[in-house]
Amino acid sequence: MLDFAIGVARNAGSLLRDRMGTRLDISHKDQAINLVTDVDLASERLIREAIGSHYPRHQILAEESGLADSPSDYRWVVDPLDGTTNFAHGFPVFCVSIGLEHRGETILGVVYDPMRDEMFSAERGMGAALNNRPIHVSKTAELGKSMLSTGFPYDIRTSKLTNLDNWANFALSAQALRRCGAAAIDLCYVACGRFDGFWELSLNPWDTAAAALIVTEAGGRLSDFSGGAFSNYRPEMVASNGAIHDEMLGILARVRSESGG
Ligand code: IPD
Ligand code: CA
Ligand code: CA
Repeated sequence: MLDFAIGVARNAGSLLRDRMGTRLDISHKDQAINLVTDVDLASERLIREAIGSHYPRHQILAEESGLADSPSDYRWVVDPLDGTTNFAHGFPVFCVSIGLEHRGETILGVVYDPMRDEMFSAERGMGAALNNRPIHVSKTAELGKSMLSTGFPYDIRTSKLTNLDNWANFALSAQALRRCGAAAIDLCYVACGRFDGFWELSLNPWDTAAAALIVTEAGGRLSDFSGGAFSNYRPEMVASNGAIHDEMLGILARVRSESGG
C-alpha cells in the first residue's frame, strides 16, 4: 500500500507541477482568503479515482469532497494540494499529502513536493524516509538556537485566534521563524531536521494525517498546545525534535494565560 500511495502522490504531483504558471480557475471557500483552484479539484479527482479502483472498499476523507464511501477499517486521508495560496501565486512551495488510517490509527503517510522532487514517506514502526533514505529530526537542544515554522488560520480577519501573539513571542525567543504556507511540508521539514519545531492552531486531518506519522517515525514529538496527545481530528498541533518541545509548550502556555485563556 505504501508503494501504491507513493505512485499516486507522484502522479498527482506531476499534475500540480504541469499546471504551475498556467491559467487557473480560482474561487473562494468560506473565507475570502481561503482559495480553491481547478487544480485542487483535478488532483483530488485523480487520487480518488486511483484509490477507488485499487481499494474500492476503503473509505476516503479528502479536503475538497469530504468523507465519502461506506465505513471501512481503512480510511485514506487526502490533501490533493497543500499550499493552495502559494500555488495560486506561483510560489513554488506546495505538495500532495496522502495518509492511510487503519481503525483510526495512521499506518502510512506520503508527502510529495513535485517542485523539488522530494518524496517523504513513513510506515508505522518502520521509520521515515526522504526519497528512500532514512530521515531523523534535528538534535538542536535550545529554543534560542532553533528554526521554527507555523501557519495562520484562514479566519484570521474575524477570529480572536490569530496566532499573531504566538508568532511575536516565538520571534523573540527562537533563532528564526518561517511561514512556508504548506503545513505538510512544514512537518516533513521537522522530520528531516530542516526545522526544529512547528506549531499551528487550526489544522484539518488532511493537513496532518500523513506528515504527523512522518514526524513521529523520524523520532519527533507531537502534542496539542497543553502537552496532551495530538490527534489528526483536533486543530492544535505542536511538532518538534522532542528536545525543544517543553520550551515551545512553555511559550504557548504563557501566551494563552496572558490572553486570558
Ligand atoms: C493550508 C496550508 C497552510 C496552513 C493552513 C492550511 P491548504 O492548507 O497548509 O500552510 O497554514 O492551516 O489550511 O488550504 O493550502 O491545503
Ligand atoms: Ca492543507
Ligand atoms: Ca488543500
